[in-house]
Order: sequence, then C-alpha cells, then structure tokens
Amino acid sequence: MTSQEIREQYLRFFEKRGHQRVRSAPVVPRDDPTLYFTNAGMNQFKDVFLGLGKRDYTRAVDTQKCIRVSGKHNDLEEVGVSPRHHTFFEMLGNWSFGDYFKKEAIEWAWELFTEDWGLDKRRLWATVFEGDEQDGLDADVEAEALWRECTDVSADHIVRLPAKDVFWEMGETGPCGPSSELHIYVGDDVEAQDPQGIVEGWDGYLELWNLVFIQFNRDEVGALHPLPDVHVDTGLGFERICSVLQGAPSNYETDIFQPIIDRIATVSGRADEAEDRVAMRVIADHIRALTFAIADGALPANDGAGYVLRRILRRAARYGRQLDQHEPFIHGLTDAVVEVMGDQFPEIAEKKDHIALVIRSEEESFGQTLDRGIEIFERLSERGEITGADAFQLYDTYGFPLDLTELMARERGLAVDTAGFENELEAQRQRGREATRSRFRAAEGVDDTVDEEHSEFVGYDRLRADARIVQVEIDAAGAASLLLDRTPFYAEAGGQVGDRGRVEGDGFAIEVDDVVKGRGGILHVGRLVAGDAAAVRGAVSAQVDAAARLAAARNHTSTHLLNQALRDVLGDHVAQMGSLVAPERLRFDFSHFAALSDDQQADVEGMVNDRIRANLETSTFEEDLDTARQMGAQALFGEKYEERVRVVKIGDFSLELCGGTHVEATGEIGLFSLLTDSGIAAGTRRAEALSGDGAEQSMREQREAVTRIGSLLNGPVVELADRVDGLLQRNRDLERELGDLQREQANREGGQLAAAAVDVEGIKVVATRVQVDETAGLRTLADGMRESLGSGVGVMGAEVGGKVSFIAVVTDDLIADRGLKAGDVVKGVARLAGGSGGGKPHLAQAGGKNPEKMDEALDAVPGIVRELVR
Ligand code: SER
Repeated sequence: MTSQEIREQYLRFFEKRGHQRVRSAPVVPRDDPTLYFTNAGMNQFKDVFLGLGKRDYTRAVDTQKCIRVSGKHNDLEEVGVSPRHHTFFEMLGNWSFGDYFKKEAIEWAWELFTEDWGLDKRRLWATVFEGDEQDGLDADVEAEALWRECTDVSADHIVRLPAKDVFWEMGETGPCGPSSELHIYVGDDVEAQDPQGIVEGWDGYLELWNLVFIQFNRDEVGALHPLPDVHVDTGLGFERICSVLQGAPSNYETDIFQPIIDRIATVSGRADEAEDRVAMRVIADHIRALTFAIADGALPANDGAGYVLRRILRRAARYGRQLDQHEPFIHGLTDAVVEVMGDQFPEIAEKKDHIALVIRSEEESFGQTLDRGIEIFERLSERGEITGADAFQLYDTYGFPLDLTELMARERGLAVDTAGFENELEAQRQRGREATRSRFRAAEGVDDTVDEEHSEFVGYDRLRADARIVQVEIDAAGAASLLLDRTPFYAEAGGQVGDRGRVEGDGFAIEVDDVVKGRGGILHVGRLVAGDAAAVRGAVSAQVDAAARLAAARNHTSTHLLNQALRDVLGDHVAQMGSLVAPERLRFDFSHFAALSDDQQADVEGMVNDRIRANLETSTFEEDLDTARQMGAQALFGEKYEERVRVVKIGDFSLELCGGTHVEATGEIGLFSLLTDSGIAAGTRRAEALSGDGAEQSMREQREAVTRIGSLLNGPVVELADRVDGLLQRNRDLERELGDLQREQANREGGQLAAAAVDVEGIKVVATRVQVDETAGLRTLADGMRESLGSGVGVMGAEVGGKVSFIAVVTDDLIADRGLKAGDVVKGVARLAGGSGGGKPHLAQAGGKNPEKMDEALDAVPGIVRELVR
C-alpha cells in the first residue's frame, strides 16, 4: 500500500461513518498568538471544544500538518537519531464535537486497525489513564471496560499509564482530557512481549494512535474546569502507520521519505549508509518542515517562528557539511518534497519557486560563515568545554543558533554552558537598550519620580494645547528638555518620528525639534530661543508645527497603504519588519525574498495612488488584541502589544495596529512615489518612498533633469533613452578608433627613434628623450620601439608632472643570448637621476626625482649596456 492509499483509506473509513472531510489548517497559525506552529490536529478546533465556536458538522476527519519544534511539544533533538520523530509530520484525526464519545472512538480504531488494515491483534496494546491525585481525577475505568468489552484486544495488553503519558494537553492552558492509545509491538519475538515495554517505551514498542477524550479546560493557575460538552480528538501518526503497513524498519524507509533521501544521495554522491545516515535523515526531515512552513507564509527571521525556521535550516546546512555539501543545496530538495506530497497539499506545489528561493537566499547568507564557525568550534572544543562566551561568539559572529552549538557539542560528548550563554545574550540586549537610550541623553537630568500620567498625550486631533511645565532642564548653551502635564506633541514611536514645534510661556519661547518618551514621560527636546532660563516655568502654550505633522501623517498613512499593496502584489508572506516615518520621507522594511521587478514596483505604486485617489476615509478605534487580530489587523512582526490596542482602518483596504498620527482621508496624501527597493538582509527588503509635497518635489526635479537632457539632445522625451544609448555607443566606437590611431602613431614614432641606434658590442642601442603627457604613453612608445628595433635595447626618458620617468626595452633574443634584462638597464639609468625601478626582462620602468639629470642619464645608456654584457 502506498502512503497516498493509506491516507485515503483512513479518510474514507471515517467519511463512511458520517464524518465531514476537512482541510488541514495552515501549519503556521494565523490567529493564535500562543503558538508558533500548529502542533496538533485539534488546534483548529480549540474554539469548538471551549464552546466558543461552532461548525456546521459534529464529526470531522482530516490529516493535519504539524510542526513540533518549540513549546510544550518539541521533538527537535530526537530527529535523525530516532527512527520515528520528526519536526514536521502529518497527523490523521477523527473528531467528534459533542457527538459520539469513547465507545465509538475505541471500536472504530480497533476495526480500522484489525479488519481494514489487518494488523496482528497479538501485537496490539491499549493504554488507559490511571488517574491523577493532584488533578483529583480517577482512573478511566470506562475506557478500560470498553477495550475489554467492545474489542478483542487481549486482556493483558491493556495497560494503565500516568497523566504524563495519557492526559493530553495542547499547551499550559486550554482544552484537555484523558486519552487512550494504541501501540504496536514490531519486535521479532511475539512471545516475548512485556507490558513494561509500553510503560518504559522500549525499542520495538511503537505508539501509533492517541484517542483523546476532551473533557476539561485548564486555566492559568492550572485548575481544570469541565467543558459544556465532551469531545473526541484522535491523532494517528501518519508516517508511523505507513512504516508499519509498509513493513519499513523506520519512517525514513517509507515511500514518504525515500524519494527525498534518494535525492540527497544523488546530489551529494553519498550512499544512505551508516556514517551518513543521520545527516541524510535530518536533512530529509528538515526540508519537509521548511517547505511546509514557508508555503504557509513563514520566513526565516531573528525571532519568533522565523527564528525556529532559521535554526532548522542552519542545522540542515551543518549536516550538509558532513555530506561534503559546501554550496547551497537544500533548496534543490524542495522539488522532491513536492513530488511526494504536492497532490495532497497543493499549496507547496503552487509556492515551489518561492520556497526554493527563500531557502536558497538563507543558505547563501549562512554558508558564508558556517565553515569559519565550524573551524572556530573545533578550536574551542579542544579545551574540553564550550563556555557561555564561546557559545555566544558562535551565535553572534557566526550565526550558530544555541541548539546547533549544543548539537555539535553533544556529538563530541561536551557540555555547553547555556546559562552563561543566556547571560551574554541578556548583556547584549542591555547594551542595545542603552545605545538607544543614549540618544535621549537630554532626558537624564529629569526627575525619575515624574510618572507618565504627567504627560498626557492630547495630540491625535489637535495641534495646540495649554499646559503646565512639570520639569525643565536648560544648560548654559540653551539646550532644553521639558516635561509638560499634557501635550499635543507626538513622541517618537512605531517608526514615526517625534513632532517639532514651539512651547511659549510668560517671557520665553522654546523651539522643540524632537520629542521622545523619556524617563518620566513625554520629553520635549529643543532650545531656548527667547527669554531667560530662569523664566521657564508655569503655564505654556504648546504648538506643534502643523506642516511637519501633516507631512508625517501623509507618510504614515502612505506606509499603511504601501504595506497592504505589497501584500496584495507579492503575497501574504509580506510582513512589516520595521519602518521610519518622518515628515520628509518614509522607509518600510518587509519580509520578501527577492528584488521587486519593474512591473511589481509599478503595480505597488499604482495601487497606492489608486487608493489615494479613491479618497478612503481613515478611522481609529480601540480593540482587544485578540479581536483585532481576528479581524485581520496587521501588526509589526515580533512586536509585543498591550491587551487593548489602537487600530487604524483605511476604508476597506487596510487594517493595522498603530499608535501613530494619520490623515483623515487618503486624498490628503495627494501623491505617492516609490523610490527604491533594496535588500537589507536575507529575506528582508527596504522600500523608500515619498508622499505629498516630497513626492511632488521629487517629480519636479526629475522632470527638470529630463527637460535639460531633452534640450541638450534636442529630442522629445520618449526618444531620450534611445538617443543616450546611441551616444554612449558612438562614444565607445570613437574611443576604440582613437586608441588604434594612437598605437599606430606610437609605432611609427618608436620606429623613427629606433633609426637613431648606435652600436654597442654588436647590439643596437637607442637612448632618447621623448614627450608624453602621461607614463602610459611612454609604454605605447616603448612597445613600438621594441618592434622596430628587431633586435636591440631602447631606453626613453620623459618629464611627467615634474618628475622623470624612464622606460627600457630589451628584445627577446638579447635576453636569451646575452643575458640582458630591461630591469637592470633601467635601474642603472634611473640611479643617475636619483631614482629606482624595475620590471620584466623585456620591459621595465623607473622614476627619478631629478629631471635636470635626465639627459646625462640617457647619455650613459651605451656605457651601462656595455657594462652589463661584458
Ligand atoms: N491531540 C492529540 C495529539 O496530538 C490527538 O490528536 O496527540
């Protein structure tokens, strides 16, 4: 039976029993902030179990894509070493939502296993929950009785297990309940089976199917609350059941993995044999996880789910080194995964190129430091331990995730000081925070005890406010920082820079040029422009620079439009990684794997301008974080938000969590111009753009430049590019012709000079002064002279830029027969003019400091040659 057939038989079996076939949820959950990856089939039904959501069916069957590499369920360390554990796997599941319960779940599982699939009853085992004192739960005698009465599993193959094995929980909180599992013995001797094998998980005893009876919700303090209804959640490990039905000794020897392993073997030229086996298995496992996670919108990054992916990929790359793969190769395995699973999961086939590109760019960026990092690791490991500082160096400089270092250390039987590593990491974070803070030095004199309530922000809908000064610092040069009890000034946050403006009081004025959240509240930083420092106190009028605020608001709303347009044009994997919104410009960093094509840039810019012309209304409201996310509000990648968040909505086009200031309707933006798109890290790009006045100004400058070029070339705009192209081509042709002519002329001149040769010991010798503008000209002349001489020695001198340059040539015959070298000749000559030099036997150059000695030096050439050949 092929794996495809096995999957299909499972789904059909339950369809026939009234189950609705449903699609796997994405492996990267969109709406559950407690999970990086879908780790069980029940994730997508959590709301139904909790009584918060409903489906229009009460029985379902599916195969769910799962990744278990973080949080409560993490199998990463087992991968490759264990024949049965994976980062990514499929879980077949049948579900009852308040419909059938334990009896049917047990009966059907037994029927499918023993009748449809004909598994040997003598090898099957059932486990049941033994109860738990701490949770106040009794043993599941009901399930135990059902196994005995409704199936013919042998009575001594029913084993009670503790909560840690058979009480299933998705995470620390949430729906949960006792479970009952089916195990199989795959060892050689059927007679030698022992319940202890199940209890202790011996080799040969394989857990296959987990039937969970969801009955409780666990709350934050760990207490269990009965649910309004009871449910069934079963999970059958697809790769495992395939290995059993296909008689494969491990999951890797099934038709799910074998084509991928074969591909790795072909690419690497290695055989799937003992010494390479673990490496091949890990890579085969990891490429599946990467393929599916990226297809569902995840991207390698420095934190969150993205960092988990990065770790997986870097582990795979490191194992690739063991197979002697030093160039990116993992991306090429995507095809093999698609061949095996693309029919069942079309999303990986559709996104194949995207997936391969993302993996490739990540492989390239890590590949550059991997070999060096391995070398460093080897050196460090000779000392017999990996300290926290070592692990941190590998992490920080060579991009080695901690678990990769741990893995390599384990292979050598070494320990890693992970606590030390965490300390180093924390110290680095601290340094980062201080660096950011040091920008706000002006804040330092401010009293720590002033709390933020003294700085109420009132500036979303007005730009002027009456306020009182709470704290003030002014130095001798007039640099001022002040806190007000309330302020219309926006403090830098969410990428938007602080407002500028003016604070005026009785007998003084302060120009504010930056506003930040400092210690004690919203801090206005600027300088005293009127009055005396002593007068700065009491009531003030705080006025924001309206033009700058409006320009920033235009750019901020444009940033939201740009964010959505990028997602619409490039795909849902686009996530905001950071931004800068200033009055003059905007910058937007986002996750994407390749440069935007001209068409994509035009589409994005066009879409933003289209939404500007549609004059969409912007509105803001407060919402619970969870609800806002469910509404599809975009959030900054990796950002932590409060429970209540501010949401900015632009027509029906864009919804984002944002605390910034915006225009009231997009028409106020006027114009949007996308300037550049550039790469700033693997998988991260930066767009820079202008809006409003800035966009108009830039357009004007461009038009002026084009007009100027047009009048110089005397042609209409549409022809300019062709004309410039033509001119450049003509220029290249002319340069080539000129070069040819110069060489010809030099040859001729060199020939004329050669005619003046004298005879020295049977050798033709020429020494002469020439005129050239630069030393390169001297070389051309020398080449011409050597050709015309046929056989001989030539030396030329020229004055270039106040210094003297000599060049000497010797023809090949004289080098061979008389041992003459141009270098020796030119050195002898240059010495007389206060210099030195050298070069090849047939041509050498030298410089000298004393031009007035040039003639004397040239006159000495025959003598020098005579000396050399004697
Ligand atoms: N939730 C259970 C598991 O993941 C059964 O589906 O094992």
